[in-house]
Amino acid sequence: MVQGHVNLNTEKTEQWIQEYVDGWVEFFKKQTDTGKVADYIPKLEEADPNSLGITIIGKKGTEIRSGDVEHEFSIQSISKVLSFITACMDRGIAYVLQRVDVEPTGEAFNSIMHLEVKGHQRPFNPLVNSGAITTSSLLSGNTSDEKLEPLFQLMEKIIGRRPEIDIDVYVSERDTSMRNRAIGYYLLEEGYLESDLGVTLETYFKQCSINVTTDDLARIGLVLSNDGIHPETEEIIIPRNIVRIAKSLMLTCGMYDASGKFASYVGIPAKSGVSGGILAVVPPRVRENELPFLSGCGIGVFGPALDKQGNSVAGIKLLRHIANSWDLSLF
Ligand code: DON
Repeated sequence: MVQGHVNLNTEKTEQWIQEYVDGWVEFFKKQTDTGKVADYIPKLEEADPNSLGITIIGKKGTEIRSGDVEHEFSIQSISKVLSFITACMDRGIAYVLQRVDVEPTGEAFNSIMHLEVKGHQRPFNPLVNSGAITTSSLLSGNTSDEKLEPLFQLMEKIIGRRPEIDIDVYVSERDTSMRNRAIGYYLLEEGYLESDLGVTLETYFKQCSINVTTDDLARIGLVLSNDGIHPETEEIIIPRNIVRIAKSLMLTCGMYDASGKFASYVGIPAKSGVSGGILAVVPPRVRENELPFLSGCGIGVFGPALDKQGNSVAGIKLLRHIANSWDLSLF
């Protein structure tokens, strides 16, 4: 397969990048057959397993879109990055980290095994369900809508429109998610929750049901790549110290029990969701080369066929190929 080396001095650069990405998406689309669409949230089962799409937005304005980029899909666990950021902006980093740690679990996203077995005094990290539900309980406000308002405002600043909740996905998860309710009761008994359990779970289910596109995820990734500063308006949207922790959490915990492999083989901070989305962040490069996206980029992927860990099977392969071809790994 082509390796994607382009000469950045030619006028055709963007077109060449586009052609490479189109070829790669077409190739990895065939591998969607090796995964399975999430069915434990019934509404997610309706997604087309053979979809695959990617948006890459570079700091210098290069925008590449390929494959199924028109779909809206629920953000699911990718929202955990945004609720963590919102909670830190609202309550302060120290306050949040006293209540949720920053350690990977090596377990599935919905496991509380380590929390129980190791007698840890707080959930391991905000990107597994126990930590995310605890984080949702830390958001200010008495109702789920009040709690989520700052998260909506943050997203609006980044993606340029107010996002919407997919009510069908929300109801589907709310009415079936016995595991998250069980986690919630466990957290409540241990004294980790700062809000009413019902309001906390409603907040969590709603944040997971926010609709996004690959473009939205790429724009969020670009702001994180750019240390929290909007690339066009130069506004500081997220304080740098919060962005730094969010990115390190994505690198160490963002792909759950596949995070080590993802860090080794792809090497960039990323966060997956069970609807098939991946948010990836490519920080600016220090070494000189002739490859694209030297000044950093955000990447959004959609590929609903998942692997055993609940990550987009073809999405990971596509990201791995792109990262290797363009030497995007941090390491
Ligand atoms: O809580 C859940 O199970 C879902 N709302 C989100 C899980 C998820 O996206 C895990 N990601 N791969």
